[in-house]
Amino acid sequence: MLVHAVKGMNDVRPQAADAFLDTRVWEYVHTVAAEVLHSFGYHHTWLPIVEETALFARGIGEETDIVSKEMYSFTDRGGRMLTLRPEGTAGAVRAYIEHNLGRTDPVQRWWYAGPMFRAERPQKGRYRQFYQIGAELFGVAGPQADAEMLMMLYRLCQRLGIVDAHVRLNSLGDDASRQRYRDALRSYLSTRRDALCESCQHRMDHNPLRVLDCKREGCRAVVQDAPDIIDVLSDDARVHFDCVQQWIGDAGIGFTRDKHLVRGLDYYTGTIFEFTSGALGSQDAILGGGRYDRLVQELGGPATPAVGFAAGVERLALLISQREGVLKGGPHLYVVPMAGAESAAFRLADGVRANNAAVWRVEVDVSGGKLKQQMRRADKLGSHAVLVLGEDELNTGHGRIKILRTGAEVPVALDAAAIAAVLGRAD
Ligand code: HAM
Repeated sequence: MLVHAVKGMNDVRPQAADAFLDTRVWEYVHTVAAEVLHSFGYHHTWLPIVEETALFARGIGEETDIVSKEMYSFTDRGGRMLTLRPEGTAGAVRAYIEHNLGRTDPVQRWWYAGPMFRAERPQKGRYRQFYQIGAELFGVAGPQADAEMLMMLYRLCQRLGIVDAHVRLNSLGDDASRQRYRDALRSYLSTRRDALCESCQHRMDHNPLRVLDCKREGCRAVVQDAPDIIDVLSDDARVHFDCVQQWIGDAGIGFTRDKHLVRGLDYYTGTIFEFTSGALGSQDAILGGGRYDRLVQELGGPATPAVGFAAGVERLALLISQREGVLKGGPHLYVVPMAGAESAAFRLADGVRANNAAVWRVEVDVSGGKLKQQMRRADKLGSHAVLVLGEDELNTGHGRIKILRTGAEVPVALDAAAIAAVLGRAD
């Protein structure tokens, strides 16, 4: 009997029929993200995929959908309650506390990329194993940190060619503001209780802010006239949020202040944000994040402000995979050795790879067969150029590099530097 992949879990692979699951698209996303994050001073971290269940229950919040119904939890052989991470922030905070970073160097810029797991109903853009690229900036309380992160995310979208991202911002204020708002919202909602869906009637009592982002029509109509948190923000929270909006506006970033924006995780305080795209359909959030100034302390560390984000890799891939060029990650040079030329081909290919001026992707044909099949393979891989090595070439020390797109043949000495020079020519 055939064993299939688990529902809602994808295989990212070369030449995938669904372009958004193609290896080249994912490599492109990760390469660009790494460059952008590094350029803002972030350091790559690799943290465990499995954590104790209690970390997420306490960190993300018992009342959230994630914790109450979407976690993959199990008891291991030692009787420990463990969970496949549904997100990266709780684990990053655990590591930050565990290594005492708050006491040594509280300001830390971390980023991560990897799989997350949530047992949601799968649909386009929503999976049970999905990938995030995210970052956390610990130790900075001021609005500079929020503004800089938003600028970084804007740069990331630009670099990926996602130019239609809609930046949405809100503030959840400090504890006192939020408590005031919760009370005001609950008392407003209680006058409209019957118009709310069953889940929102429950949320109203336990987590009223979540009613604001219910997708049901009846609930959306009710929240149209709900009180706005901006009216109950404390002075400090308002000044903070005004600064963030001012600075990103000064940086030329267009945004909408969305009074209905709340997030699905309970740890947020102050600024929260999402970048959305209409091209994604109903699962339209490309990325989301915000400030979480209390979480480090709540999980047992020293009081440490923090702000972070995570982007869904599948959603970034969906947005860019249709664009021409992204899938063109084939070899720059495909070397086809005839019988007897294998050793020379390996030597030459490696010489081109080892040159320091540029990173050339050089693939040697190791599958053999007829020259026609080998040329077809080179084409299918999206190779830029092909070099055939046979007896003549080895004897004369010269060959011809064929540029597949134009059909042009360029004579070249069989020497790594000469070959690299031909590859480096823009044609
Ligand atoms: P989140 O909004 O739950 O935030 O997830 C961030 C992004 O992950 C979403 O905007 C979406 O692109 C993607 N995503 C979420 N669930 C799925 C799914 N089931 N399938 C595909 N993609 C999905 C967080 O996870 C926070 N940890 C972000 C953060 C970091 N806040 C502060 N620091």
